Amino acid sequence: MFSGTPLKQRWTLLNKIGRGGFGEIYSALDLETKEHVAVKMERIDRHKRALVLENSIIRRLQESKHTTKFISSGRNTEYKYIVMELLGSNLWNLKKNQPNSRFTLATTIKLSVEMISAIEDLHKIGYIHRDIKPGNFGIRNSRRSKTEEGISQSYCCIFDFGLCHKYLDSDGKVKPAREKAGFRGTARYASINSHEGMELGRRDDLLSLFYMIIEMLNGELPWHRIKNQEKIYHSKKNNTNKEMCKDLPEEFTLFFEHINGLKFEDEPNYKYLRKLLTESYIKLGFDENTKYDWEINQEVKSQKRKSQKLKLKKKNSRDSKQIISSNFLEDIDKKNEIILPSLSDNNIQQINEKQLEEADETEASSSTMEVVDSSQEEADGGMESNEFDKIFKMINEDNNSQSVSTHSGMKKTSCKCIIC
Ligand SMILES: Nc1ncnc2c1ncn2[C@@H]1O[C@H](COP(=O)(O)OP(=O)(O)OP(=O)(O)O)[C@@H](O)[C@H]1O
Ligand SMILES: [Mg+2]
Repeated sequence: MFSGTPLKQRWTLLNKIGRGGFGEIYSALDLETKEHVAVKMERIDRHKRALVLENSIIRRLQESKHTTKFISSGRNTEYKYIVMELLGSNLWNLKKNQPNSRFTLATTIKLSVEMISAIEDLHKIGYIHRDIKPGNFGIRNSRRSKTEEGISQSYCCIFDFGLCHKYLDSDGKVKPAREKAGFRGTARYASINSHEGMELGRRDDLLSLFYMIIEMLNGELPWHRIKNQEKIYHSKKNNTNKEMCKDLPEEFTLFFEHINGLKFEDEPNYKYLRKLLTESYIKLGFDENTKYDWEINQEVKSQKRKSQKLKLKKKNSRDSKQIISSNFLEDIDKKNEIILPSLSDNNIQQINEKQLEEADETEASSSTMEVVDSSQEEADGGMESNEFDKIFKMINEDNNSQSVSTHSGMKKTSCKCIIC
């Protein structure tokens, strides 16, 4: 509907990239900077005014590395809109593209550490999210985010603040809980407290994150196929955390125990949670060079393409040799008695050119794919270290000054941390 329409004479809307309960999201071209951006729009007559709240939160969160960069906002006769940084795929789509629709432990832990920071940054400015789910996190394009040394970085960013709630009062104290607050969020990831209509607090964002973590690892949650909210609630009550964590490193149980033990007004110990997960990561033998699943997929794909190209080139040179020799033999056989419509040099050249053209086309489509894929790779997530590495290093330093025996269970062969 909007495609091609310039907004404020500056942003040309291109494609719809998302649609949710509160509005529509478009990719757009910034005619000034020539960069692609995202534009979130909401009809002006919408009485809920989620975009107004979202606008205010994004602006306040600009110090955080874990949210989209704010560019502009405004309204026209029909719509309110926010122009912001364009991220890569959301986590739901990235997970869907994985074998069995699940991430490896390494990727899940790396992402979780980032998400804890994203949620913490939001809590620090006085808001809880109330709709933590994979579709509300995206990976920053690595080209845009570089360290001072010029190394590209990827960040997992949180967005969609339409359901946020201010939990702090003007004095920075936690507002008293209302007796009945009603259900908020997405049934699959909502905490049991939300199903019970209780006032949600910081703990509830992390309980939703816990469900997300289990889903990223197992592919789905036990209530995946249930649509009815009440039945989902009962399934959550019946599936204990112990069962859900039974095949996972013990740190996941400790993670759950910490957040489940929090009262409404309690501040979660974000640092402890990050440390738990990072310790588990180290114990499993991963290190700061361990790649995200989608980065590995990209490498495999590009290797495949390269070997296909090589095979095709070899085949072409073999075929052209065969054509020449069969033509030559045919001519000898006929002893020049009859002039057969044999393949002249010109014919051979034509055929070979045709084959090469075909090969080039395949190559061209591969390289187009490469361009698309590499941009997708960038869009899907940059490759280098960031928040996770900081904690990784911090734990290594901590552990160096503490007891080495805590690492007795480590896979020493592949872990590159100093203690190992
Ligand atoms: N800045 C962005 N960059 C790239 N994609 C984005 C961006 N913002 C949103 N999207 C895409 O659009 C989808 C919907 O966006 P968002 O969650 O903000 O909208 P919503 O209307 O509140 O959605 P829902 O109600 O489904 O949660 C996201 O899941 C994501 O895939
Ligand atoms: Mg959303």
